[in-house]
Amino acid sequence: MKALFLAGGKGTRLRPLTDHLPKPMVPVMGRPLLERNVEALKNCGVDEVVLSTCYRADDIEKHFSNRNCGVKLRYVCEDIPLGTGGAIKNCRDYFDDTFLIFNSDIVCNIDLNDLIRFHRKKHADVTIAATRVENPSNYGVIETDDFGFATTFTEKPKPGEEKSDFINAGVYIFEPKVLDLIASNRVVSVEKETFPALLKSGYRIAVYRGGSYWIDIGTPEKYMQVHRDIFSGLCCVPENDFLQNHIYGAEGAQIHGTARIVGPVWFGRNVRIGANVTVGPNVVLGDGFESGRGCVIRNSILWNGVSVGSGVSIIKSVITSGCHMPSGIQCVNTVYSQESKRPFVI
Ligand code: GDD
Ligand code: MG
Repeated sequence: MKALFLAGGKGTRLRPLTDHLPKPMVPVMGRPLLERNVEALKNCGVDEVVLSTCYRADDIEKHFSNRNCGVKLRYVCEDIPLGTGGAIKNCRDYFDDTFLIFNSDIVCNIDLNDLIRFHRKKHADVTIAATRVENPSNYGVIETDDFGFATTFTEKPKPGEEKSDFINAGVYIFEPKVLDLIASNRVVSVEKETFPALLKSGYRIAVYRGGSYWIDIGTPEKYMQVHRDIFSGLCCVPENDFLQNHIYGAEGAQIHGTARIVGPVWFGRNVRIGANVTVGPNVVLGDGFESGRGCVIRNSILWNGVSVGSGVSIIKSVITSGCHMPSGIQCVNTVYSQESKRPFVI
C-alpha cells in the first residue's frame, strides 16, 4: 500500500518554532515528527510514501536523504502552496489503488491496520479517522448517520455552530477514483471543497472512530502538551516508555556530581550539566546542551545545541536550536528563538 503525507504547510501558528524548520520536522522527544510518522507505517504494509512538500521542502528532502525509514520515499514539491486538496491532486500519478493520506502535524495511536480493515468492510470511497475534542470549531467537524457514514463536513465552523464534537483527525483512506473529483493546478481545500462536494454527489465517506490518543501539534501549547503526555505515559512513543524508565539518553553526558536529575527527562547526546543544576521533571535536553552552575530547568523542551550561562531558570518553555541564554536570565512560559527579540509568551 502507498501513503501520502501533506507536509507543505507554513506552520504559521507554531512560530517561532517554524521560523527555520518546516512544521513536520519539529522534534518530538528529540526526533522529527515526520520521521516518526513515516517509520510507523512500515508495520502496516505500507511500502511507498509520497511526501507532498512546499515550505522549506529542501530541509525535508535533505533530512531523509541519508536515512532508511524502511519505506521507499518520493517527493512532490509545489512551487506555490496548492492547499490540502490541490496537493493531493498534484500527487495523483503515484496512486492507482486504495491509499492512505496523513496531515503531518498529528501524533496519535490510531491502529492503521484496523482503519484499513474498516474502510474495506464499509466499501467506502473515502474513510476519515475522527476523534473527539473539546473545541471542535478549530477543526473539521463531521456529522454521521446511524451507519457511521458522514452526512456533513464543516471546516472550522463558528464557535457555537458545531453540529457535533467529532472532528477530522487528519488521517484518511482514499479510493483513487476520488482524485478525478479534484480540480488540477489550482488551490483546493480538501476539507472546504472536496469533502462537501463528495457528500453532495453521493459518495460514501465512512467515519472511523478509533484510537485513544490524538493531538495536532500546530501551536506551541500543543507542542508542549504532547511532551507532557509522553512523559506521563498518556501517549506512547516506541523507544521511550517513561512508565518503565525515568531517564532516557545521556550518551556521552557529563553531569557534575552536585547536579540533580529529576525524572522523567530525555537527554540527547553529549550534554554537559554544571554544578548545582537541577534538571527535571519533564525536560528534554537536545544534543550538545551545555550549562553553567546553579540553573533550574523544569517542564521545558530544549532543542539541539542550546547553551545556558549560570543561574538561569527555564520553566515551562521551549528553546529552539543553537540559542544561548545569558547568565541570570529567567525564562517562564516562553518560546525562545534566536531571532525573537522578545520571547513569545505561551
Ligand atoms: N503540500 C501541501 N500544500 N501541504 C499543505 C498545504 C499546501 O498548500 N497546506 C497545508 N498543508 C499540510 C500541512 O503541512 C498539514 O500537515 C496539513 O496539510 C493540514 O494543514 P494544517 O494547516 O495543519 O490544518 P489545520 O490543522 O488547520 O486543519 C486540518 O487538520 C485538522 C486536524 O488537525 C484540517 O484537516 C482539519 O479538518 C482537521 O480537523
Ligand atoms: Mg494542523
